[in-house]
Amino acid sequence: MPSVYIKTYGCQMNERDSEAVAAQLVAKGYTLAGSEATADVILLNTCSVRDFAEQKALRKMENVAAEIRRHRPNTVLGFMGCMAQSRGGELIDRLPDVDLVVGTQKFHRTAEYLDDIMSGRRDKVVEVAEEAGSEAAIREHLLAGNSRKSVTAFVSIMQGCNQHCTFCIVPHTRGQERSRAIADITAECRELVSTGVKEITLLGQIVTSYGRRGFSRAGGTLGDKSPFVQLLEAVHEVEGLERIRFTSPHPKGYGDDLVEAYGRLPKLCESAHLPVQSGSDRVLKLMHRGYTRSRYLGIIEQLRRVHPRMGISTDIIVGFPGETEADFERTLSLAREVEFDQAYIFKYSQRRDTPAAGMPDQISREIREERNQRLLEVINGIAKRKYAAFAGSQVQILVEGPSKKNPARLMGRTRCNKIVLFEGSDRHRGQIMDVKITRAGSFTLYGDPAILNLDNLVEEERHETIRAVDKMR
Ligand code: 5AD
Repeated sequence: MPSVYIKTYGCQMNERDSEAVAAQLVAKGYTLAGSEATADVILLNTCSVRDFAEQKALRKMENVAAEIRRHRPNTVLGFMGCMAQSRGGELIDRLPDVDLVVGTQKFHRTAEYLDDIMSGRRDKVVEVAEEAGSEAAIREHLLAGNSRKSVTAFVSIMQGCNQHCTFCIVPHTRGQERSRAIADITAECRELVSTGVKEITLLGQIVTSYGRRGFSRAGGTLGDKSPFVQLLEAVHEVEGLERIRFTSPHPKGYGDDLVEAYGRLPKLCESAHLPVQSGSDRVLKLMHRGYTRSRYLGIIEQLRRVHPRMGISTDIIVGFPGETEADFERTLSLAREVEFDQAYIFKYSQRRDTPAAGMPDQISREIREERNQRLLEVINGIAKRKYAAFAGSQVQILVEGPSKKNPARLMGRTRCNKIVLFEGSDRHRGQIMDVKITRAGSFTLYGDPAILNLDNLVEEERHETIRAVDKMR
C-alpha cells in the first residue's frame, strides 16, 4: 500500500483535520511516511488566515513538485484545507504537478479521491463544494494504532463561523456555523478516554457559538444556559477524563453562565484564550467584533474573580486599516492592563473578499512592522515577569510526553496552560503530578518533581519514595 505524508500549517483545527485524514488513510491500509522524501502521497493542509501562511505552503509545494518531477514522477501531490477551499482549481493552474485539491467540507472523502487518482479513473480532482453534515463526518483518531498513547486529544465540536469580522477569511473557507450533536461529541470523548486520553480540547472556529443554530436537534434544551455550557457539562460527566479545555471562543460568548462554569466544573482548566484583536473601541467597531474594550476588561475581571491565577492568552492584530497611533496606544495600554500570559500578535494582512481589504487608510508595511515590535516588547516584558514569579512554587501538571525540542526532557502543562519541562522518564507520561518550579525561560517553566508530595504518585513509585524518605530521616 502507498505511504502518505501530511504537512500541516496553521491552527489546531488543521492539526485535528490532518490527524483525522491520516487515520482515515491508515484504516484503508496506507502507511505513514516519516518525511516527504519517501512518501507516495504528499498532502499540504493549508492556512489562509494571512498571506504569509499561504505563501509558505505555495513555496513548499513548488519545491516538492520540482523534486518529484525529477525523481519520483508518480508521487501524488495535494492541497487540503483553507487555501484549497478558497483557491480551488486555481492552485492546479498555478502548479500543474498538483493532482488533488480537497476543500474543508470534503476531508472525509480524501481516501476516495486518492483512489480515483491512483487507479487512473480521474486525472485531477478538485472538490470544494459544501457538504451537509460534514462537521460530523470526521471522527477518526490516530490513537488506536499508536503504540505511544496520546494523553491529550482534540475533539471538533463545530465548524464554520457567522461572526464575519471584517478582516477574517474564515467564514469563506470554513462556511456557516454547523455543530455536532452533544451525544456524538461525548461518545467520541468517552472513546478517547478509554484509550488513555486524560485531557480533551474542544475545537471550533467560534466554540462559544456552539449549538446556536438548530440546537434542540443537537439534543440540547433551550434554558438559561447556553448550548456551549450544556456541552461542557455533558463532557464533564465523562468518567476518567481529567481535564477539559476549549479553543477558540469569542469574547461575546463569555456570558455569566460560562464564567460561572469555571468555578463549578473542576475538570475545566483555569485557562482562557480570549482574542481581543485591538484595545481601541473605534478599531473594534471597524473590525465588527461586537464588544468594547470595557466589556472585554469586564470579562477578564469576572474570570479572575473566579480564579485569580487564570491563564489568559489572546490574539492581537496590529496595523488594521485606519489604525492610528492613538488607537495602537490603546492596544498597548490594554496589554499592560490585562497582563496576558501569552499573546499572539498578527500584522494585518489583506485577505481577498473581506470588507477590511477594501477599507481606506491601509497601513504601510513599515508601520505594521514597527507596531508589531513595540507590542512584542510589552507582551514579552510582562510574560517574563509573570513566568519568573513562578520560581519556587509548586504546580500541578499533566505529563504529555517527551519535549519536542529536547526529547531527553518531559513536557507537561499546568492547568493554566503553562508549559513545564523536567527531567523524568516515560513512566511519567499521562500522570498528573506536582512539580516544583526551579526557573523560568521564555514562555516555559522548568521543574523538578516534588517528591515529598505523595498524593499523585502511582503505587509502586509511592513505595520507592517512602523508602527514599525513610532513608533521609
Ligand atoms: N490579518 C492578520 N491577522 C489575522 N487574523 C485573522 N485574520 C487576519 C488578517 N487578515 C488573526 C486574528 C485571529 C487569528 C487566528 O489570526 O488575530 O484571532
